[in-house]
Amino acid sequence: MVVKTLFTSAEKLDEIVQEFGTPFHLYDERGIRETARRLHAAFPWVKGPDGKGFMNYFAVKALPNPHILDILREEGMGTDCSSDTELLLSKATNITGERIMFTSNNTPAEEFKLARSLGAIINIDDLMHLPFLEEHAGLPDILCFRYNPGPLAEGDNTIFDPPEETKYGHRHDQILEAYQTARDKGVRRFGLHTMIGSNKLNPNYFVRTAGLLFDLVGEVAEKTGVPIELVNIGGGIGIPYQPDQEAVDLDYVSRSIQQAYEEKIKARGLAPLQLVMENGRYVTGPQGILVTQVRHIMQKYKDFIGVDASIEDMKRHALYGAYHHITILGRESEPQEKLYTVVDSLCENNGRFATDRPLPTPTRGDILVVHDTGAHCYAMGGNYNGKRRSSELLLRENGDVTQIRKPETIDHLFATLHHAGVRCVLDSR
Ligand SMILES: Cc1ncc(COP(=O)(O)O)c(C=O)c1O
Repeated sequence: MVVKTLFTSAEKLDEIVQEFGTPFHLYDERGIRETARRLHAAFPWVKGPDGKGFMNYFAVKALPNPHILDILREEGMGTDCSSDTELLLSKATNITGERIMFTSNNTPAEEFKLARSLGAIINIDDLMHLPFLEEHAGLPDILCFRYNPGPLAEGDNTIFDPPEETKYGHRHDQILEAYQTARDKGVRRFGLHTMIGSNKLNPNYFVRTAGLLFDLVGEVAEKTGVPIELVNIGGGIGIPYQPDQEAVDLDYVSRSIQQAYEEKIKARGLAPLQLVMENGRYVTGPQGILVTQVRHIMQKYKDFIGVDASIEDMKRHALYGAYHHITILGRESEPQEKLYTVVDSLCENNGRFATDRPLPTPTRGDILVVHDTGAHCYAMGGNYNGKRRSSELLLRENGDVTQIRKPETIDHLFATLHHAGVRCVLDSR
């Protein structure tokens, strides 16, 4: 039996449960910092214009909490933002200018204006967005364009559709026109971006993606004379959600991309070019756990464990059938006698964290740990059935625990309602 280890001791976690009550997300500051450093150190050969090295723009959508962004700013990361809220979170944590990449789609004018006012690198998603940006916010000195290789992309996709089915980016026949038009309108500096896969564990996916973009840098230079200075190969580095999966070998990825860079960029006189990424999951995913307590154990046609968290705290299994490892605190090495489906209390059949999962025989009050919930978990939740999302806690490097987000309350849910009866109910509590 392979067991996933916790980033803290069972005793410490038990203390945190006693102090804060369940459910909660807990994030590990040390693990986040170490992962950020590992990622930034993986591409030492990158030297863009002005000696700019490799950097990761953390995808804020993965874990939109300013306390986490503070840590990542200290580690030298920028932010990848997709909305006004994410731009404002960046501003709130002193991440501005070209340390922000704004990759949006179907973008409202107000968001372009905000991105311009922060000096973010705007990543244009569609040919029609260039005149729209010009009209509403003016054109900046630097622009990036999102490329969708469509059928030219090879390989499998787990969460994303095949590229040609998605709404993102310029087709191959549109991207040359995009650069030419922007150059003719006075834009002077250019980037190129793509993001065509998610949670990829195959290192060759990243090598292929970089190669594809390096080829396009050459084609754009040759056919339009536009020099591209920055290539963003997106996020998508996967994490081993299943205990027997292997993490991506970053050294292999870096060495192989460097080789492609030498052949496709340097040898063709297209250097210097800065390489960047926008990973979220890789940085924080394994550094988070959802901690929840067993409320009921139910024998129906199947065996169910009912816990006090809801899928609004962690929807990935409900949405995609995604695997998140689950352990019972302090009972990790006990025999897994039966299959259990771990459920919440939503009136929604998908209200599950795991389906038919082998676990030790549970007891009411047991603490369950849902692993790898540091990315795309809290952030994806809503309030279906009036459920309130849990708190977020941060385990500091010195062992202190800080509540970095309060649990939601009925007041949060009712705050947007003007109904007099609702106000009376709230006031009468
Ligand atoms: C454009 C873009 N960039 C980056 C990310 C982050 O992906 P991940 O957290 O898997 O690295 C996403 C995720 O959906 C995305 O759509």
